[in-house]
Amino acid sequence: MAKIAGGRLAAAVSSAGGFGVVGGGYGDPEWLAGEMMHVDAANVGNVGIGLITWNMGPDAVTNALSYKPHALWLSFGDPTPYIDEIHAAGAVAICQVGTVAEAVAAAGAGADVLVAQGSEAGGHGRPGRTLFGLLPAIAAACPSIPLVAAGGITDQAGLDAAKALGASGVALGTALYATEEANDAPEAKQRLVDSIGDDTVHSVVYDLIRGPVWPEGYTGRSIRTTLTDQWAGREDELREVVEPLIAQHQKAAAEADMSIRVVWAGEGLDAITAVEPARNVVARFAPVTPG
Ligand SMILES: Cc1cc2nc3c(=O)[nH]c(=O)nc-3n(C[C@H](O)[C@H](O)[C@H](O)COP(=O)(O)O)c2cc1C
Repeated sequence: MAKIAGGRLAAAVSSAGGFGVVGGGYGDPEWLAGEMMHVDAANVGNVGIGLITWNMGPDAVTNALSYKPHALWLSFGDPTPYIDEIHAAGAVAICQVGTVAEAVAAAGAGADVLVAQGSEAGGHGRPGRTLFGLLPAIAAACPSIPLVAAGGITDQAGLDAAKALGASGVALGTALYATEEANDAPEAKQRLVDSIGDDTVHSVVYDLIRGPVWPEGYTGRSIRTTLTDQWAGREDELREVVEPLIAQHQKAAAEADMSIRVVWAGEGLDAITAVEPARNVVARFAPVTPG
């Protein structure tokens, strides 16, 4: 989760027995340096770093690998140019995908782990396929690569369902956003608690208003606001009148006005009833015994 999953959250997840991933987003080196200091301070030594492939800076992978993460997580774009460098650094290459074709391509490029992201997921992704159909399809198409399920999962029941459909594990976004360690305003986290999956919508409204505009075929799931109510489905018109809305959204973000500000979140919101320490979220899953 770009910027929201910082060093404190990643370290807390890894300390609790999960595998924490620092959301490096487009690869801002100063931000990452600050967050990795929190990881160092926690002395967990076992986190990943995520990057958004289509729009990351030219040195983002090299810079991320300089922190010696256990894994690099690449999403939303072609991972092929980066896999060898990740392996040469001794890290695991995790690739998040949203279609079978992307899964096959990432597997062919040398990914070590595939994350199948269904459209239930919070944040950006492919809006086309839900996890229930996507997961077994990717498991069949890429049978020799460990598969992780992402989208709407909050507890052991979700993990059990994902395992039944071919996954070995799950990736959590929204559930970990609603934690004390996540980087965001208390008002944003409260919004997660107060909302349910019905309140979310997949759109490009916030990409048009905040930028950057993503490549064709990606949209993002966020909690509905007055802006999505007004503009989702009318994006062509929005493009024509976006200018004043940019300032309106910036003001809303500064004032933590969650009726306007974007909060990316997935369909698992129904199960989120409080902002808790991240270790409580990890504790909703049975411990795994290596072997
Ligand atoms: C606030 C937020 C930010 C996200 N940012 C990223 C990101 O930067 N890169 C990425 O690969 N996925 C990102 N995701 C998607 C997650 O990787 C994952 O697919 C998703 O959170 C799983 O679904 P869930 O949110 O229902 O748990 C984000 C999700 C959320 C909720």
